[in-house]
Amino acid sequence: MSRPTIAVVGATGAVGTQMLAILTERAEAGVGDVWGAARLIASPRSAGRRLSVFGREETVVALSPEAFDGVDVALFDVPDEVSAEWAPVAAERGVVVIDKSGAFRMDPRVPLVVPEVNPDTVTDRPKGIIANANCTTLAMMPALGALHREYGLVKLFAASYQAASGAGQAGIDDLYDQYETVAGDRTLGQTPGGVRKALGEKGSEVFGAPLAMNVVPKAGSWKEDGWTSEELKIRNEGRKILGIPDLAVSSTCVRVPVLVGHSLAVHATFASEVDADAARKILEAAPGVTVLDDPSREIYPMPADTAGTDPTYVGRIRRAIDDPYSLDMFIVGDNLRKGAALNSAQIAELVVERGL
Ligand SMILES: NC(=O)c1ccc[n+]([C@@H]2O[C@H](COP(=O)([O-])OP(=O)(O)OC[C@H]3O[C@@H](n4cnc5c(N)ncnc54)[C@H](OP(=O)(O)O)[C@@H]3O)[C@@H](O)[C@H]2O)c1
Repeated sequence: MSRPTIAVVGATGAVGTQMLAILTERAEAGVGDVWGAARLIASPRSAGRRLSVFGREETVVALSPEAFDGVDVALFDVPDEVSAEWAPVAAERGVVVIDKSGAFRMDPRVPLVVPEVNPDTVTDRPKGIIANANCTTLAMMPALGALHREYGLVKLFAASYQAASGAGQAGIDDLYDQYETVAGDRTLGQTPGGVRKALGEKGSEVFGAPLAMNVVPKAGSWKEDGWTSEELKIRNEGRKILGIPDLAVSSTCVRVPVLVGHSLAVHATFASEVDADAARKILEAAPGVTVLDDPSREIYPMPADTAGTDPTYVGRIRRAIDDPYSLDMFIVGDNLRKGAALNSAQIAELVVERGL
């Protein structure tokens, strides 16, 4: 039987670029070596560009219905509105769509899949579309899924420290530009308004505030009652993936001047008492999780050490002093890999494994 053809829609973006690298790496490593031809798709602006995947140069084609001819699985790495319009077009042509945007995540007829947590939901896709969670939620899921299986998760508090690349290639470029502007002036950041003066009143078109030399207590867009879209995604998508519809969730999502890698300070409460050493062992055995937790050797997870790698890293694991049912921990995941492209690639492989 011939190998399935895979399409990457949004191949030129921040996630799409990682997608091509991850598909190639996995094929070379023999982990996800299931694909035949690759079709690279982006906007008409990028048509004709040549990009490398599976060690071959491919020409980018513009998004159109015909671009999906002969495609078996399409990974969508495009803005929400593009997915909303085009994922159904591809699905109607018989393509299994794996979408990275927020367009379909909460649709009850679209499974929201994290292969380490809820792999069996992948075959229940009446719309022909499978959704990926947002990168902040995804960073926690392999670890929380494993702890939930053992102890029963009932409450989750999280404070995120989110990287600029969560806002795509534009976010990456913007933070580098800001660093260049502020570098060399050692007076900045020590007086009121200094950083804004250097970067312009708005600080940044992408983040709406200065990000270099700063933290911004808002990630995503404003929603009702002072919550942001990112904070609501953690709650709604976390509940759906873990299969806990009444999970109590509260979070504050913060943007920090890191390029790649979302971090989360997590306080999780369970139905049964927890033990930090036992939790560490559960996490060490959990697929997709790497424990970096040795206070005696200053070992804990940080984006500077983990960017560009696959696992969800967990450290600072400790039982809450005042509550034997709660664990505190620090979780770091690469938002462009497990938070986006890697999870899509794993779902695509799962789809093939379970028979398209
Ligand atoms: N960055 C993250 O950490 C992250 C994590 C999880 C999920 N996501 C989601 O993944 C998706 C892609 O994000 P990104 O960060 O990779 O964005 P990005 O860097 O801005 O890339 C967007 C991609 O979409 C393409 N595109 C835009 N408009 C199009 C159109 N009308 N027709 C066809 N292609 C079009 C672009 O093609 P051109 O280059 O031709 O314009 C580009 O390839 C978004 O839904 C985002 O929310 C991102």
